[in-house]
Amino acid sequence: MKQPVRVVVTGAAGQIGYQLLFRIAAGNMLGPDQPVILHLLEIPPAMNAVQGVVMELEDCAFPLLHGVVATDDANVAFKDANYALLVGAMPRGPGMERSDLLQANAKIFSVQGKAMNDHAAKDIKVLVVGNPANTNALIAQQNAPDIDPGQFTAMTRLDHNRALAQLSGKFNVQTNDLTRMTIWGNHSSTQYPDVSQVQVNGCDLTNVDQTWYVDEFIPTVQQRGAAIIKARGASSAASAASSAIDHMRNWALGTAAGDWVSMAIPSDGSYGVAPGIIFSYPVTCANGQYSIVQDLPVSEFSQSRIDATEAELREERSAVEHLF
Ligand code: NAI
Repeated sequence: MKQPVRVVVTGAAGQIGYQLLFRIAAGNMLGPDQPVILHLLEIPPAMNAVQGVVMELEDCAFPLLHGVVATDDANVAFKDANYALLVGAMPRGPGMERSDLLQANAKIFSVQGKAMNDHAAKDIKVLVVGNPANTNALIAQQNAPDIDPGQFTAMTRLDHNRALAQLSGKFNVQTNDLTRMTIWGNHSSTQYPDVSQVQVNGCDLTNVDQTWYVDEFIPTVQQRGAAIIKARGASSAASAASSAIDHMRNWALGTAAGDWVSMAIPSDGSYGVAPGIIFSYPVTCANGQYSIVQDLPVSEFSQSRIDATEAELREERSAVEHLF
């Protein structure tokens, strides 16, 4: 049996936290031979609720769960952490501008970045789920100068999976028949779900009706979160948690041969994107490292969509840069 690894989940008493923790403890994220110690970070008013979650985790008697630490102190939560899923964030309140939201979250993610820098394992893998996820990841990264900047990522896997689901319905195939889907850019309504490289059972996807693609598919994927809130009266929690598991599992254990996934990672300038912003790219993973899939053809249409989502991320960075 391997040595246990320490996995931090922030916002552990929230909706996504409740869908996430039990799957990590069951081995869905890091595999059936990897024991975990869960570190649950919450804010003081939620500590009672967290204790309830801890009791339930205990009651599952998961063989892979070798311990649980529940705390409202980031310095305790990130001690020796190997993986961090940063889910807890300040939600957008009534009348709140996007810039207010960025500032409110900047405080949370700078504190957590510093705590990681001081206490976590230096090769910690960080996934930011809490919105605005890409820029929150940038803030945490900028506050952790001793950790490799490439270890900070944000989640666009839910958008990737939503796109696969839409394609599966449209072309009457299973999601695992589909490969090479790409989400470019920000986890926001400017994201660009790109099907130009998608294959079905190894063959190029042909007969994509452009009107359907531009007027239905792209907006459906971009606005799926809002559609779920409207239908359910609450935001997508189970699918978000499932996608966070997918993101971390692929990063830690690798992607399938011939396929890639979408991860928001620090741009190295690939595809002409401003270096440094946390931008979603097509990536393959092996040996715990990701690499951007290079040299894909980019049509004029794709370029204009990539430019729009990149511009939004550059603006978000400008709004919080003074905090770096
Ligand atoms: P929720 O409101 O149910 O839970 C959030 C939890 O975070 C609460 O329990 C709260 O007490 C906690 N929290 C707040 N500040 C904290 C801090 N400084 N430290 C630790 N915990 C803190 O929200 P839910 O549904 O779980 O969503 C969480 C976040 O995930 C939201 O920002 C949401 O917008 C985002 N999200 C991102 C998605 C993505 O694809 N990237 C998809 C769906 C949601």
